[in-house]
Amino acid sequence: MTSTPPVQDPTGPVLSARKLQRMFGAVVAAGDISLDVHAGERLCLIGSNGAGKTTFVNMVTGYLKPTSGTIVLAGEDVTQRSPREITRRGVARSFQIPQLCLHMTVLDNMLTALHSSRGHAHFLRPAHDAASLERSQELLRGFGLAAHAARPVRELPGGVRKLLDIAMALTGHPRLLLLDEPTSGVSADEKFATMDTVVRAIESHQDRSPVTVVFVEHDMDIVRRYASRVAAFAGGRIIADGAPHDVLEDPEVQRYVTGSAPAAQGAAA
Ligand SMILES: Nc1ncnc2c1ncn2[C@@H]1O[C@H](COP(=O)(O)OP(=O)(O)O)[C@@H](O)[C@H]1O
Ligand SMILES: [Mg+2]
Repeated sequence: MTSTPPVQDPTGPVLSARKLQRMFGAVVAAGDISLDVHAGERLCLIGSNGAGKTTFVNMVTGYLKPTSGTIVLAGEDVTQRSPREITRRGVARSFQIPQLCLHMTVLDNMLTALHSSRGHAHFLRPAHDAASLERSQELLRGFGLAAHAARPVRELPGGVRKLLDIAMALTGHPRLLLLDEPTSGVSADEKFATMDTVVRAIESHQDRSPVTVVFVEHDMDIVRRYASRVAAFAGGRIIADGAPHDVLEDPEVQRYVTGSAPAAQGAAA
């Protein structure tokens, strides 16, 4: 069911997951997940709640160890590596619920992310050098957050916090960026603007090679507009993987994921 990736990648996949399994008690959070992600792809993971999307993101980023299977990044097996070691290999993520220091300002959160992206994760404190300040301010401008720089995060609405969390993920110049529900908690009429900002900011901050993006999304209009490829999860397995149009038209995906299975009465008005 895999399709040819849109970008040819002579050096092999950025990420190669093979036969990943992970149980929680009797729950199969990952059944048998195999997935290759190629440079420059914008791969969207879809699936209803509990399908295993976050488990996959957590395994790839080292937050959760698979019971079996392997995770290979640019040719290197990182299955047993820590989140920090994986970050150092050019993988960054944002969270379904942003992980921010609420009492700190937006700028200090950025500077703290920069500090830990350099391997100082033991100390949650901002970097102080001029280059870090410049990089932070540049990212804040890219994400339209410059006006909030001096405000404590606790004063800011959810949508702004999501953008900050993603901006923080970009501080270490990742090659692979995993965004877990970047538009959750963002109102329906702001979702497109949020994704436009995210995509534009990622594109303008990719210096050497393209940033490959894997994101989790529930809104199919967003999926259609921003994904170059879609993988559909159900019950800890990938039930379809390929071009967005093909996956979203797949009857199994419509039955188990999008809830839009062709019914007797046809499409809703
Ligand atoms: N830390 C955990 N402890 C117990 N069960 C978990 C844990 N994380 C996930 N699960 C279970 O694994 C399944 C997949 O969860 P998850 O990957 O979060 O799904 P999704 O992100 O697609 O909503 C769900 O049944 C969930 O309840
Ligand atoms: Mg999730």
